[in-house]
Amino acid sequence: MCGIVGIVGSRPVAPLIVDALKRLEYRGYDSAGVATLEDGKLDRRRAEGKLVNLEERLKGNPLAGNIGIGHTRWATHGAPVEVNAHPHFSGNVAVVHNGIIENFRELRNELQSEGFEFTSQTDTEVIAHLVAKYLKTGATPVQAAHSSLKRLRGAFALAIMFASDEDLIVAGRNGPPLAIGHGEDEMYLGSDAVALAPFTNKITYLEDGDWATISKSEMQIFDLDGKHVDRAQQTSVGSALMVDKGNHRHFMIKEIYEQPEVIGHTLANYVDFNEDKIALRDMGNQENPLDFAKLDRLNITACGTAYLAGYVSKYWFERYARLPVDIDVASEFRYREVPMPQKGLSLFISQSGETADTLAGLKYCEEAGQHLAAIVNVRESTIARSSHSVFPTLAGPEIGVASTKAFTCQLSVLAALAVGAGVQRGHIDRETEIKLVSELSEAPRYANEVLKLENEIKELAHSLANKEHVLYLGRDTNYPLAMEGALKLKELSYIHAEAYAAGELKHGPIALIDEQMPVVVIAPYDRIFEKTVSNMQEVAARGGKIILITDKRGAEEVGMDEAQIILMPDMPEIITPIIYSLPIQILAYHTAVHMGTDVDQPRNLAKSVTVE
Ligand code: M6R
Repeated sequence: MCGIVGIVGSRPVAPLIVDALKRLEYRGYDSAGVATLEDGKLDRRRAEGKLVNLEERLKGNPLAGNIGIGHTRWATHGAPVEVNAHPHFSGNVAVVHNGIIENFRELRNELQSEGFEFTSQTDTEVIAHLVAKYLKTGATPVQAAHSSLKRLRGAFALAIMFASDEDLIVAGRNGPPLAIGHGEDEMYLGSDAVALAPFTNKITYLEDGDWATISKSEMQIFDLDGKHVDRAQQTSVGSALMVDKGNHRHFMIKEIYEQPEVIGHTLANYVDFNEDKIALRDMGNQENPLDFAKLDRLNITACGTAYLAGYVSKYWFERYARLPVDIDVASEFRYREVPMPQKGLSLFISQSGETADTLAGLKYCEEAGQHLAAIVNVRESTIARSSHSVFPTLAGPEIGVASTKAFTCQLSVLAALAVGAGVQRGHIDRETEIKLVSELSEAPRYANEVLKLENEIKELAHSLANKEHVLYLGRDTNYPLAMEGALKLKELSYIHAEAYAAGELKHGPIALIDEQMPVVVIAPYDRIFEKTVSNMQEVAARGGKIILITDKRGAEEVGMDEAQIILMPDMPEIITPIIYSLPIQILAYHTAVHMGTDVDQPRNLAKSVTVE
C-alpha cells in the first residue's frame, strides 16, 4: 500500500524521487520521506502527512546526492507520524518498505537483545537493523541484504541503500509489485511503471521471491537461493503525463464526468456495434481461450467496489447466461478452503490489479487448476500478468481513492461478458443479442443525460450532510448498487451508511427507522418495483426520509408525496446498474464536499491495497 522509489544516477536525485512519489501517492499519503547518499554519508528528510509537506521540507533543507530512495506511506505498524516515516536507518543502512513483515516481533526481540536500538514503531525498522547486523559480521552489502531477505516473512517490497556504496540499491519483492526502470547511465526502481514513466518506459518487473542489485549501468536479478534469474524487459505503456484535475475541483468529480466517454470506449472493446454482436476481446493468453459453454459455475473474487461490480454481474450471468455464480470478497475466499470444480473459471476484478487479497485468491485458484480471468484497469498489473484471460477496462488512470469510472467500466465489461456467455451457452438467440447490444450501445448517452442532474442531486446531498446514519435499499441488481452507494457515502463523508436488500428490511433493520433516518432507495421501474414500493411504504409509515432514485414510470406509480425523487430517464434494464451508479456517486461526492472532507484522499484509505 505504500509507494517505493529508488534512483541510481549521475545527477541530483531527490527532486526526481519526489516527482515519482507524486505518481505513487494513490498508494498511501500518511507520511513521506527521501534519503540520499553523498560523500559516503546517508541523509534523509521525512514529513508527516501528504507529499507537499515533504516538498516544503526539502525546499527549506534540500538533499544532495546522485543515489536515493523514497517512500510514501500508508500506515500499518505505528501511527502516521514523522518518526515512523520511511526511510528507516540503521548506521550505514537505509530502507524503504511496502507491505508487512509478519515475523517482525521475533526479529525485533533478537535485534534488541543484541543491542540494536529501535526509534520507531514500524516493522520496517527491523530490516534496517538486520542488514546492519550482517554488515557487522563482515558481510558485503549484497550478502547482508540477501541474508536479511531470507529471514523475512510476509508480503513486502523493499529497497535498501548503503553508505559504503554510491552505486548500489538492493531491491526485493515478495508480494507487492516492484518495477525496475532502465535509463541512460541511470537506473530506477518503483512500485509501478507509471511512477517511472517520466524517466523511462523500459521496465523489468520483479517476480515474487526475486531480489535485485541495481547500479547506474546495470541490474541483476536473483532468486532467494542467490541464483541468477532472467526477467524479460518490457516496454511500458504507462503515461508520462501527470494526470491533472482540469477545471474540476476534485479528481473524483472529473472522473465521474469522464464516464460517458470511458464507458463507451470500454464497451466498444467488447461489442462489435457494426455487426450488432458481442466480440469478447481477450487480451490474455490466446492459446487457452475462454469458453463459457463448457462451464457449470463461475467463481468471482474481488474487494470493495470491484466486488460489488462482480455482485451486480451475478444477476446478469445467472439471468442472461443461466450460469450460476459464486461471489466472494477476496479476504474471505482466500482462507475458506473452497472446493473448486475441475477446470472451472475464476474471475478476478480489480481496478489496480495489485490488491493483495484478490491476488492471494488468484493464487489459490491457480493451484486448483482453474482458468484465471481478470478484469483490470491497469493492464501491466500483477493480476493481469498472472491470468490466462484478461479483459481490461478502458477507464484511464483513476486517481480519486473512491472508485467511480473504474466501477462503471467494470460493469460495462461484465455486462458484455454476461451477454457473450449467454450467446456461447445458447441461452441468447441472435435476435436477443442484437437487442441487448443495441441497449448497451445507449449507455454513454444515458450517462451524459444523468450528469445534467448534478445540481439537483447536490441539493439533496446537503440534506444528508451531517446525518449520523443513512440507509440504502434496493432489490435485484440494485441491491449491490445500494451497497456501493453506502460504501461511497461512508468512505467519502465518514457518515455511517448501511445497505440492505429491500425485502430484508422487515427482518431487523426496520428497527433503525425513525424521523432522523434518511433512506436512499434505488428502484427503476421494473418487474419487482411494486415490491420495493411496499418496503418504502414501511419506511414512510415510520417517519423515515426517503430519497428515491427512479424513472418517470416509477415516479408516477409510487404515488408518495413524502419521497424526494431523483428522476432518471427511462432506459433499458440491462444498463440500469451502470447508469444508476452515477447519481449515487454524485450524492456521496456532494455530501462529502459540503462536509469539507478530503474527497480525493479520504482518511485512512489508499488507492491500492497491497497488504492483507
Ligand atoms: O484496485 P481494486 O479494484 O482491487 O481495489 C479494491 C478496493 O480496495 C476498492 O474498490 C475500494 O473499495 C475503493 N476505495 C472503493 O471506492
